[in-house]
Amino acid sequence: MMYDLARALLFRLEAERAHDLTIGMLSRGQRTPLASLWRQQVSGQSRQVMGLTFPNPVGLAAGLDKNGACIDAFAEMGFGFIEVGTVTPRPQSGNPKPRLFRLPAHEAIINRMGFNNLGVEACVENIKSMRFRGILGVNIGKNKDTPDEQGVDDYLYCMRHVYPYASYITVNISSPNTPGLRAFQHGAALADLLAQLKAEQAKLHQEHGRYVPLAVKIAPDLSASEVADFAAALLLHDIDAVIATNTTLDRSTVAGAEHAEEAGGLSGKVLFDTSTKIVAALAEHLAGKIPIIAVGGVDSVATAQAKLAAGASLVQIYTGFIYHGPKRIKEIVEGL
Ligand SMILES: Cc1cc2nc3c(=O)[nH]c(=O)nc-3n(C[C@H](O)[C@H](O)[C@H](O)COP(=O)(O)O)c2cc1C
Repeated sequence: MMYDLARALLFRLEAERAHDLTIGMLSRGQRTPLASLWRQQVSGQSRQVMGLTFPNPVGLAAGLDKNGACIDAFAEMGFGFIEVGTVTPRPQSGNPKPRLFRLPAHEAIINRMGFNNLGVEACVENIKSMRFRGILGVNIGKNKDTPDEQGVDDYLYCMRHVYPYASYITVNISSPNTPGLRAFQHGAALADLLAQLKAEQAKLHQEHGRYVPLAVKIAPDLSASEVADFAAALLLHDIDAVIATNTTLDRSTVAGAEHAEEAGGLSGKVLFDTSTKIVAALAEHLAGKIPIIAVGGVDSVATAQAKLAAGASLVQIYTGFIYHGPKRIKEIVEGL
């Protein structure tokens, strides 16, 4: 009821303005009496994944809280885990506005934000000031103006900075909004990136006396053979988890809708099928050796169940949360 009202007001505003207002309110209201507007008790079944204990299997996907400014507010809503980022080594403003579009009839979003963020150091400062002691993923990427040949260094830089504060680290090589980024999903570029990340992880494990698992986030726009190759690389390099999937470039599911032809990544209900097929294909190739975190069109108990049935151990949600609000988190967790 509360969210219905808030949504009606927010959806009258331009999408990014609504986003900024909401993030501002959550960051000011978290840990204060205002949090009673969104705080809820969510009783879920805990799960062990990547050696971590998740109080429930429904997490917040990356991109909503890019700078980790309202981690406590999302915890107050009852998410089982929270992923912040994508962060890059240096702050960057992202693509020109407008860059965020709602497709309400499809409960979908198109975004070409382009990793607008305050930089990894600012995110770490935010994390340090939070009360939250639950499972926190930090999603890392590369700056747009870092040449592709030096892209690996950006991931390593971010990894070193977030390692002491993250429960797990997600390597984002699947955003469609940073030119060249998705090339890291293939062949020698992928092998080299994974090898260097694993070597760094081993060093940081020694240094900090704590093993922080590495997850890699995959795009939905890969062919069957590309998914097979990707899975083989994850197994070869002993990666700790895979997150499937990011947003899609495909527009066939929204043809004719207003904004359908905007450049960027499409998310929400219309991504569900493609994304779930990737989860199922990964599950077959990985044969239980590497856990899968499913994201893409989760917006109900049934869609979350379908992801788990396809082979996922956990789910994340972004667009479904924008359309349905915090209550949907509780409904999904308690309905599973
Ligand atoms: C506005 C917006 C910004 C996003 N930013 C990021 C990001 O910075 N890093 C990332 O890994 N995924 C990002 N995503 C992708 C989501 O984390 C998720 O993978 C995708 O939206 C599919 O899930 P959904 O259908 O529940 O939205 C973004 C999605 C949206 C809608």
